[in-house]
Amino acid sequence: MSSRPVIIALDFPTAEKALAFLDQFSAELHVTVKIGMELFYAAGPAIVKAIQDRGHDVFLDLKLHDIPNTVEAGMRVIGRLGVTYTTVHAAGGHVMLAAAKRGLLAGAAEEGLAAPKLLAITQLTSTSQEILNEDQQIAGTVQASVVHYAQLAQQSDCDGVICSAQEISAIHVAVGDDFLGITPGIRPASAQADDQQRVMTPAAAAKAGSNGLVVGRPITQADDPVEAYQRIMTEWRV
Ligand code: C5P
Repeated sequence: MSSRPVIIALDFPTAEKALAFLDQFSAELHVTVKIGMELFYAAGPAIVKAIQDRGHDVFLDLKLHDIPNTVEAGMRVIGRLGVTYTTVHAAGGHVMLAAAKRGLLAGAAEEGLAAPKLLAITQLTSTSQEILNEDQQIAGTVQASVVHYAQLAQQSDCDGVICSAQEISAIHVAVGDDFLGITPGIRPASAQADDQQRVMTPAAAAKAGSNGLVVGRPITQADDPVEAYQRIMTEWRV
């Protein structure tokens, strides 16, 4: 696992489509791919194993949010899968976050594996100021809530957060540089933004202090995905 990965969001509906895409990436490239709800609900733990068997790492992005006991049990199963990262919602609170970490550690220990890094979701980037203040009844700005959740996640034994690259410097000021900030919403200078509202280039995200990128369509829909991945790596590793 690279300590500053470019993580490819494997947003495909079936195992066949995901693996056909991944066929283009040799084991020597040793990429990290993100499996989200769509692919995991369709293809289950078998797709995690199939990708690992090809020599790649898996970020399992299931965003757990439930009572602590249920999250701990779910994370125990995830801990046995040998993935490198997984996610939980910070809004579940410190008891749930600590239970998530306990579950991961227990599951990984049962298989003699390293525990996956636990990343907390702060405020989703789809959460507007209006949703925050009206629907969630949280006063203040989205950024203040994101920073608060990052502090909560750190105090609750998480390893980092998923956040916008625009938030990364405020997060690192609040929680220190060792706490990971993994950033989606990345677009190379030449690419279109798709439905992402606030995008940043790989070089700008690196400069802002991002610890890893999540990139989907600029790689998965490129004419030459391996070339697109390598170009983003070059921009990122400036
Ligand atoms: O195709 P694109 O590069 O926009 O994909 C970004 C990936 O990161 C998707 O899997 C998306 O669900 C995820 N993501 C995001 N914004 C967040 C959290 C996750 O775009 N705040």
